Amino acid sequence: MKIANSHSRRMPSDRAIIFSNFAIGYTNLRKSLKNRETIILGIESSCDDTSAAIIRGTEVLSNVTASQKIHEQYGGVVPELASRAHQKNIIPVVDVALKNANIDKSEIDAIAFTRGPGLLGSLVVGTSFAKSFAMAMDKPIIDVNRMYGHVLAHFIDEEGKDKPEFPFLCLTVSGGHTQIVLIRDYLDMEVIGSTIDDAAGEAFDKAAKLLGFPYPGGPLIDKHAKLGDPSKFTFPHPQIKDYNYSFSGLKTSILYFLQKETQKNEHFIQENLDDLCAGIQHTIVSIVLGKLKKAAKALDIKHIAIAGGVSANSGLRTALLEMGEKENWNTYIPKFEYCTDNAAMIAITGKYMLDKGLFADQSVSATARMPIPSQLNK
Ligand code: KG4
Repeated sequence: MKIANSHSRRMPSDRAIIFSNFAIGYTNLRKSLKNRETIILGIESSCDDTSAAIIRGTEVLSNVTASQKIHEQYGGVVPELASRAHQKNIIPVVDVALKNANIDKSEIDAIAFTRGPGLLGSLVVGTSFAKSFAMAMDKPIIDVNRMYGHVLAHFIDEEGKDKPEFPFLCLTVSGGHTQIVLIRDYLDMEVIGSTIDDAAGEAFDKAAKLLGFPYPGGPLIDKHAKLGDPSKFTFPHPQIKDYNYSFSGLKTSILYFLQKETQKNEHFIQENLDDLCAGIQHTIVSIVLGKLKKAAKALDIKHIAIAGGVSANSGLRTALLEMGEKENWNTYIPKFEYCTDNAAMIAITGKYMLDKGLFADQSVSATARMPIPSQLNK
């Protein structure tokens, strides 16, 4: 058996077997897993949600999230406050996740945690907790890239829902990312397009701030857009090459437009709130889906998924279904609770990593930047 450091960017076979005590533990674990499904505790603390989940195989037994309200008053996530809130929440959240799943901590086979990407101070809390818990319980740990988690959330069991077939494309749209990912296998992913500046979620939140909404404004734009006319106010689409995106220009054009209109009528925003939200949402949704359609055509891929916080947007969900019908796609949309940051997606990624023996060791540390492809790709 080889002994590898999880930090090294090596092939799975090298990375598979960790410190000597874990190597023995892994062999024992494999034996004990022969006739039963793996039980994994997932921990997610990359931004402002503290989440813990228990999964058995690909079934979620519990998925508990404590959201932090404190940031609303500041118009965005304050990293230091997020980190402190994670410290306060992490033990009670894990406790509730174990209770809800009716699982004793001794029954857990491994602990999967978000190593990155995200806010370093937030990630450190989940990472430290996972390492301490693992050490105390003598369990292996699995360091998960959250961006894999968003994609692999599609493999969580859901009644009446098909799982994507390989290869498929996943549009991952969150507050920090906008990516088109080509997925060839569970852990074999390639980013084929991404934003060159703001993410789609940031575009929603920044536009919402201009309209006077608290953070995060994305869901509020969604709510008001349902009542508005998307054709009343239109905003320009960026001209960006390939499958890449840009959203910084949209924010500027909304800002100038609102400044111009409120100079003429100071109540312009209040009087047109629903139509403004509908116009902004329609613009962002058309931009993200336009590139997705282009990529699907060029690669001749018919299995198309969405993931990340913005995939909770009702306009995006409806537009994807409509486009899917026209283009003859099989579309995959996650359940709301698996769209935003959640530990179930980290646990299921942990399951696929465990299947390949991809464990970390106690020297692993959180990292704010963690691109795809990572060390997991073949
Ligand atoms: O994936 P996520 O929970 O966290 C990270 O960004 O890491 O995504 C959060 C983002 C925020 O920008 C939020 O405004 C956006 O997702 N979001 C939405 C909706 N729900 C969440 N944006 C538009 N419509 C929604 N319904």
